Amino acid sequence: MSLLAVQGIVAGYGQTEILHGVSIVVEPGEIVAIIGPNGSGKSTLMKSAVGLLRPTGGSVNFRGEDITGVAPENIVRKGLCYVPQSSNVFPSLSIHENLEMGAFVRTDDYRPRITEIYDLFPDLASRRKERASRLSGGQRQMVALARALMLNPVLLLLDEPSAGLAPMMVASVFEKIKGISSTGVAVLMVEQNAREALRLSARGYVLAAGHNRLEGPGRSLLSDPEVARLYLGG
Ligand SMILES: Nc1ncnc2c1ncn2[C@@H]1O[C@H](COP(=O)(O)OP(=O)(O)OP(=O)(O)O)[C@@H](O)[C@H]1O
Ligand SMILES: [Mg+2]
Repeated sequence: MSLLAVQGIVAGYGQTEILHGVSIVVEPGEIVAIIGPNGSGKSTLMKSAVGLLRPTGGSVNFRGEDITGVAPENIVRKGLCYVPQSSNVFPSLSIHENLEMGAFVRTDDYRPRITEIYDLFPDLASRRKERASRLSGGQRQMVALARALMLNPVLLLLDEPSAGLAPMMVASVFEKIKGISSTGVAVLMVEQNAREALRLSARGYVLAAGHNRLEGPGRSLLSDPEVARLYLGG
């Protein structure tokens, strides 16, 4: 049984259909990448999977349970956490407060989890009182990742975690994703840095105009001529 199985999802905004029956699966512990041109529906797919957008067709199954149309806060409680493409931290709050906000649906004592997360993100620990607005883009992305981990997710959905970052920070974000994955958390990420993302991923999907275009092991996609021409710069 797959951890996440999105089957033939149809979704859009108002009368405009954006996804015309997209399917993807994530197996336990896997890193999976979704690549594709701007506007192909990658973010729409993520929003549909986490309940922020109600699909008009198809289904989303998580850990063997049909979660199609379930409210986002209930999906989060089941262990599926999502980091959106933008506005993914509270700028006026400190790093520590951002992490506390990440625990919003927890009813138990979340403090031991914050300690674990600071161990995973030592740079955040040393600056825990600093406002997120004072951090660089890369550090903010780290806060967003750390906050999503507050709920002990089984699967993290990351929408362009390395977007707009300097090359060195891109590398650190991917390193961090690898580290998170090594703790047993599965990761599904949308990425513009296709080469780095596919290198890190067990499998990848290419979306185009709201359809599945290609899929396969990360390494096979890296050597696919169409992927190379369209997404890897030749
Ligand atoms: N809230 C919205 N209301 C109406 N249309 C939207 C909305 N969000 C996205 N769209 C449209 O849906 C289409 C797919 O957008 P989406 O954000 O899913 O693409 P994407 O693949 O994530 O693109 P990008 O690489 O630019 O992030 C685009 O044509 C976009 O203009
Ligand atoms: Mg997007």
